[in-house]
Amino acid sequence: MLILTIETSCDETSVAIGEIKNGKLKVLSHVTSSQIKLHAKWGGVVPDLASREHLKNLVPVLDLARKEAGFKNPEELAKKVDLIGVTQGPGLIPALLLGVNFAKSLSYIWKKPLIPINHMEGHIYASFVESSPRKLSLKENPFPLLALLVSGGHTMLVFSKKHLQYKILGETLDDAVGEAFDKVARILGLPYPGGPMLSKMAEQGSSDFQFSIPMKNSPTLNFSFSGLKTAVLYKALELSKNQKIAEILDKSPKPDLKIPLTKKQKQNLSKAFEDVAVQSLILRVRQALKIRNFKTFVLGGGVSANKLLRKRISEELAQEFPKTNFLLPPLDLTGDNAAMLIPVTYFKWQKARKEGKTGKYLDNWKNLEAEAGLEL
Ligand code: KG4
Ligand code: ZN
Repeated sequence: MLILTIETSCDETSVAIGEIKNGKLKVLSHVTSSQIKLHAKWGGVVPDLASREHLKNLVPVLDLARKEAGFKNPEELAKKVDLIGVTQGPGLIPALLLGVNFAKSLSYIWKKPLIPINHMEGHIYASFVESSPRKLSLKENPFPLLALLVSGGHTMLVFSKKHLQYKILGETLDDAVGEAFDKVARILGLPYPGGPMLSKMAEQGSSDFQFSIPMKNSPTLNFSFSGLKTAVLYKALELSKNQKIAEILDKSPKPDLKIPLTKKQKQNLSKAFEDVAVQSLILRVRQALKIRNFKTFVLGGGVSANKLLRKRISEELAQEFPKTNFLLPPLDLTGDNAAMLIPVTYFKWQKARKEGKTGKYLDNWKNLEAEAGLEL
């Protein structure tokens, strides 16, 4: 079975082509065009610019994916594709619309079923595409499964007892963890994209101060990162000494907030922030893993590229919970990409087939709508 997937929820235009044979998934091609450089000037993603870029990139990215997958021409690809999967939401509506509309056109012209995918569901399944230390066969039963999803818009712990069924155990009460990385990076005057930059700075840091862990003693599995971000701001002001707090806060949270800090101070603040942000994620995962025996743990979303988080999960938690199989997404599938949509597209189609409901996917060329606030 050949599956083509499309992702345009934010600032990456991505197309992937995958083949599923005997329960094994092989990604034939995966092409992602990132807009990071374009948005860097503005210190964040500008929705209208993102939309224009998707418009410009979608066809060339599809064409490159076709070539990389070894299809001689568009006609051959059109003939071989069995299913089309597309991110329906959540995300930026001007960005989502482009991908959804493109997928609808292909579905109409090629007469192929079109399957809508939740972006966060995609992040859960990134670890199914290829994972260390081994590939997970689609036939394998990974349940009960616990997922920690950490991105720019979400921070959640999800419990799944079978494919495509999700229960949110906890989520952030304010900022998402990726958002907190990005905002703290702005406070420190680091260039966009903030998360990875801050993490790099943290590697050189050594700090003699510690921030407190948000909601440390809470019995719930919820998260909070907004207070931590403010604590970094105050510490930065204290260290810089020569700026009036009121003057700075007046400008907050503008990107031009320039707190005069030395490189060393920035490195130390980055480290202190990253330590606590990661610690707060580890704390909740540990709490969740104690509730029941999870057969599998998966990590997903942009922040899953974070080295410290990966290390603490694969070393610390994996040792503490030896019965659970800890899967981390490969680094090229941590951010937004279309490859992670392939397994979801496959499982959704299998489910619809069993239930005799595949017709809805054949009509999606006219019915499907993008949804910015789509919930898991
Ligand atoms: O999943 P994603 O690519 O887009 C959304 O769906 O939001 O996640 C992007 C987020 C950004 O906030 C970015 O700063 C963060 O992931 N991120 C990181 C790292 N790499 C990306 N945060 C911390 N450490 C990293 N290495
Ligand atoms: Zn994402």
